[in-house]
Amino acid sequence: MDIKTIGVVGAGQMGSGIAQVAAQTGYTVLLADISDEALSKGMAAIHSSLDRLIKKGSLQAEQKDAVLRRITTTTSYDAFHDAEIVIEAATEHAPLKFEIFRKLDEVCKQGAVLATNTSSISITEIAANTRRPEAVIGMHFMNPVPIMQLVEVIRGYSTSDETFRTVDELARKMGKTPVEVNDYPGFISNRILMPMINEAIFALYEGVASAEAIDTVMKLGMNHPMGPLTLADLIGLDTCLAIMEVLHHGLGDDKYRPCPLLRKMVAAGHLGRKTGRGFYTYQ
Ligand code: CAA
Repeated sequence: MDIKTIGVVGAGQMGSGIAQVAAQTGYTVLLADISDEALSKGMAAIHSSLDRLIKKGSLQAEQKDAVLRRITTTTSYDAFHDAEIVIEAATEHAPLKFEIFRKLDEVCKQGAVLATNTSSISITEIAANTRRPEAVIGMHFMNPVPIMQLVEVIRGYSTSDETFRTVDELARKMGKTPVEVNDYPGFISNRILMPMINEAIFALYEGVASAEAIDTVMKLGMNHPMGPLTLADLIGLDTCLAIMEVLHHGLGDDKYRPCPLLRKMVAAGHLGRKTGRGFYTYQ
C-alpha cells in the first residue's frame, strides 16, 4: 500500500513520539486528541525532542520547521478519512480502545489499516470491534519513540499477510526494526519487562533495598541503561499497573499479581515523571 497520510490517536508521550517520527520520515500526519490542551502538550514535547536531535547533530536545524509543518492537530476523527493508516496510542484502557476502534472503522476509508500501539491489550479483541479485523494490527513502539529501535508488530487472530507487510515496511521506513510477535498477553516486550519491574517494586515493598540501590544493582550489575524503578517512572506507573493486570488476568497465573505498593502509588496519583512524582521526584 502506498502510504501518504498517517493518523495518530493520542498526543501523549507515545502518540507525540510516533507523530514526530512519522513526520521526520516525510509523511503527512494528523494528530488527534480529545482537547486542545492535550494537543498543545504533545506538540511541545515534539518541539523539545526535535531540539534535542538538532543539538546532537542527527537532525538539521532547518528541517525542524518542515517536520512541524507536516503535522496537523485535530480534536475530530473526521480528518482520518484521508489516512491510509491510523495508529492509536490512547490510554491503556480496553473499553476506551474498543470505542476508538469502532469510531475509526466508521470514518476510515476502505482498505485503511487500523494499528494500535497498545502495550498489552489483545489485538484480536480490539479487531473484533471493527468490520475489518483483517486490517487491524499491533504496532508497538518503545519509549522514547524517537530513540528506541524496536517496533513489535503483533498479528491478531485475523490479521492478513497484506496488513502485516504494510506495517512491517512502514516501521522500516521510519528507521525502526520490526519484530513479528503473536497476540498473547503482554506480547514479548511486556511479558518479560513488566514482571521484572513488578519484582523490583516487590523488593522495595519488602524492604530488601532502597529504590536507588535496586536501580544501581540493575544498572551497574546488568548494564541496563536505567534501573527498573526509573524505567517504571518513565513508562508511567498507571501503565505498568494496567499491563500487570492484563498479564495476571490473561495468563491466569498469580506470578503476575501486581505489587500492592504499585497499586497504592497509582491510587495516590504518583504516576512517575508525568505527575512529577513516582519512585523519584522530578522538577
Ligand atoms: N527525543 C530525542 N532525543 C532523546 C529523547 C527524546 N525523547 N530522549 C533521549 N534522547 C537522546 C538524548 O538527547 C541523548 O542523546 P546523546 O546521547 O546524543 O546526548 C540520548 O538520547 C541519551 O539520553 P540521555 O543522555 O538524556 O539519557 P540516557 O543516556 O540515560 O538515555 C534513554 C536515555 C535513551 C531513555 C536510556 O536511558 C534508555 O534506553 N532507557 C531504557 C528505555 C526503555 O527501556 N524503553 C522501553 C520502555 S518500555 C516501552 O516503551 C513499552 C511499553 O509497552 C511499556
